[in-house]
Amino acid sequence: MISRRLFLRALGACAGIGTGALYYAVQVEPTWLEVVRRPLPVRRLPPALTGRTLAHLSDIHVSTLVSDEYLLDTFRRVADSRPDVVVITGDLMSWHYGWRDHVAAIYRHVPRGRLATIATLGNHDYGPGFGDPRMAAQVVDVLRSCGITVLRNHVLDVAGLQVVGLDDLWAEQFDPRAALRGLDPSRAAIALSHNPDTVDLPVWGNYEGWILAGHTHGGQCRPPFLPPPILPVRNRRYTAGEFQLAGNRQLYISRGVGHSLPVRFNVRPEVTLFELTDQHQPG
Ligand SMILES: [Fe+2]
Repeated sequence: MISRRLFLRALGACAGIGTGALYYAVQVEPTWLEVVRRPLPVRRLPPALTGRTLAHLSDIHVSTLVSDEYLLDTFRRVADSRPDVVVITGDLMSWHYGWRDHVAAIYRHVPRGRLATIATLGNHDYGPGFGDPRMAAQVVDVLRSCGITVLRNHVLDVAGLQVVGLDDLWAEQFDPRAALRGLDPSRAAIALSHNPDTVDLPVWGNYEGWILAGHTHGGQCRPPFLPPPILPVRNRRYTAGEFQLAGNRQLYISRGVGHSLPVRFNVRPEVTLFELTDQHQPG
């Protein structure tokens, strides 16, 4: 759970900039969505997938702290882009009284990919202490009833693209060995992993390619020209955006759609519309 002290620290990070900025940080930016468009070059991408759209949403955090209207409007904007694949990388909700009906009511309107609509879990999907597997099982039931395929250390083949969906690190359910066992390294693949710290663990074997993540919310508040003061990762390099990793891997961290604390400054919420392209190999 977010402590009052942490909330005040986050507010304090913004407060130095002034009252007007504070109003902006609380009332404007948390729901001022940025739709980011960028290519996603994938090795050995099946030709039929070239030019297709993969929409990446993360950290939607359905709760009493995120406006339903904002989330439903975000879903409509994603649906209008007619995505072929939709992926959601964890923290689909934050626990609150009545969460089950609320989560079902929102995800009934989730934008669907023509080929697949996929989610993986984040720490908040495991309840307030981030460690309740029974809670996560109930969340998964609700999401599946809304037509979402939830991958928990499992690979799904989407028209020849292997999507590796990993479970959450903080909930101690991250098990890439189980997931990667089902992977054919000679074929196109992407991986979904909520927590970017997972990319530094020596568990990726011969996996090469993109890992799409969330979890950080980009720090939510970032003073100009400085790194965000609050970042829930060990490797504080992992704020948001693209990172080149060892082993021919690349990381993309979404700033997320929702929030845990209702404040953002200089870190607008994000939906990413990736255009799948074939990555030509040297030689
Ligand atoms: Fe989150």
